[in-house]
Amino acid sequence: MSAPAAADLGFIHRFEPAANPAAPPILLLHGTGGDESDLIPIGRMIAPESALLSPRGKVLEEGMARFFRRLSEGVFDQADLEFRTAELERFIERAAAAYNIDKLRLLALGFSNGANIAASLLLRSPHALAGGILIRGMLPFQPAQLPDLHGRHILLLNGDHDPIVPRTQPQQLAALFRTGGAQVTLEWQPAGHALTQRDIAVAAAWLRTLA
Ligand code: MLT
Repeated sequence: MSAPAAADLGFIHRFEPAANPAAPPILLLHGTGGDESDLIPIGRMIAPESALLSPRGKVLEEGMARFFRRLSEGVFDQADLEFRTAELERFIERAAAAYNIDKLRLLALGFSNGANIAASLLLRSPHALAGGILIRGMLPFQPAQLPDLHGRHILLLNGDHDPIVPRTQPQQLAALFRTGGAQVTLEWQPAGHALTQRDIAVAAAWLRTLA
């Protein structure tokens, strides 16, 4: 099968097929300034046998790709976040059809800005994902209505001295997910905002518990 053009699916992206069709497919969502290739090696370390679907964020901030616009650090353009979340959901639909991805088992693996749009997707359209690994994420918005997240599995990995994400943010996000019915693990890493080897090891071990 020839790869579908980015224009057909709406996002520049990479797709790596599964080595084992039983392994859950993973949606990779990079951080600010990343691209569709950024998280492929990390995705492979965390989920060696999974299919990897990796879009590039479409918003540019001083030349750096992101998944949605922000007004300043940690202050998000909520209208754009809502629009971009819906756009990403459409991409997932189309990519799932094009690559034969089992959408019901799709897990996000998001870092920083990518974790934040994964959180937005889970809060707005919980059926779009089976859960995810959100690294250095924060509460992207306060939902007016709590989503039904029963059956969703979510791992939050945050740094205990992250200068960008205040400690209360992942706590609030975890509480929201739990109240919605998700199985949530919140793990504090001895780290700042950057992703570490330990995040990879903890995420890989968590993923194995889902099998
Ligand atoms: C965001 O804008 O999503 C967060 O501040 C994380 C970042 O991208 O630096």
